[in-house]
Amino acid sequence: MFEEQVVVITGAGQGIGAEIAKEFGQEGATVIIVDFNGENAEKVSQEIIEKNGKAGSYQGDVANYDQTQETIAKIYAEYGKIDVLVNCAGITRDASLKKMTKENWDAVIATNLTGTFNFIKAVFDKMTAAGYGRIVNFSSLAGITGNFGQTNYSASKAGVIGMTKTVAIEGAAKGVTANVVAPGFIQTPMTDAIPEEVKNKMIQGIPVKRIGLPADVAYAVKFLASKESGYITGQVIEVNGGMHI
Ligand SMILES: NC(=O)c1ccc[n+]([C@@H]2O[C@H](COP(=O)([O-])OP(=O)(O)OC[C@H]3O[C@@H](n4cnc5c(N)ncnc54)[C@H](O)[C@@H]3O)[C@@H](O)[C@H]2O)c1
Repeated sequence: MFEEQVVVITGAGQGIGAEIAKEFGQEGATVIIVDFNGENAEKVSQEIIEKNGKAGSYQGDVANYDQTQETIAKIYAEYGKIDVLVNCAGITRDASLKKMTKENWDAVIATNLTGTFNFIKAVFDKMTAAGYGRIVNFSSLAGITGNFGQTNYSASKAGVIGMTKTVAIEGAAKGVTANVVAPGFIQTPMTDAIPEEVKNKMIQGIPVKRIGLPADVAYAVKFLASKESGYITGQVIEVNGGMHI
């Protein structure tokens, strides 16, 4: 489905992003992974190559504007184009508002919101000039409904939705779509940190009665990133087993 396409995925060293990278690898894409953890990024890249896929990796901090522009410039120099950008890198620094520090706030906004901006900024002009592009950004259920202890995270993820809608408007006439995937409760290292009894209680509240898997999210990303989804832009697909309807 993505044969001949170059797909850049941030935060794909583990969790949902790694699953997305492997799925695109199986679909014939050239997959470029950018992650804070360079070792993990390279590991995922090697896994794709071992299965006869095409992949490469870069260590990078999405919150760093200059570094991001340099990384993307290197990718254009080596691969000639970027068809799909998936902004999956994200962090949490949870605390009730009472206990939340400015550092907690700044770190989450810098990675989740500014990081997404940095990557879009680096590819947008080239995508519009090429007349083709698919941008898929990561929000969260917390960015739609709010969530106790996540003032910073909810703000960053709601911001991603607003940003995406504007990018969609600006890219629409030039063949560039921008959409959002908003996962609910997905099994990854990010959620592994939640105590077992809390997790079980959360699962009881999910209409589908199970935790989501990275593959559930990867499928929605592939759909939005496909050529055939060119008439879908500025939308949010919630992948949450019915937690919010
Ligand atoms: N897991 C869930 O239940 C869930 C729910 C809703 C939304 N999400 C969102 O999905 C995305 C992926 O989540 P996950 O659960 O796979 O997380 P994860 O913590 O398992 O993986 C996140 C990856 O992002 C990388 N990363 C973090 N900061 C970075 C930075 N500044 N620059 C580059 N890379 C960076 C990490 O090294 C890691 O490899 C995130 O945007 C997250 O907010 C996850």
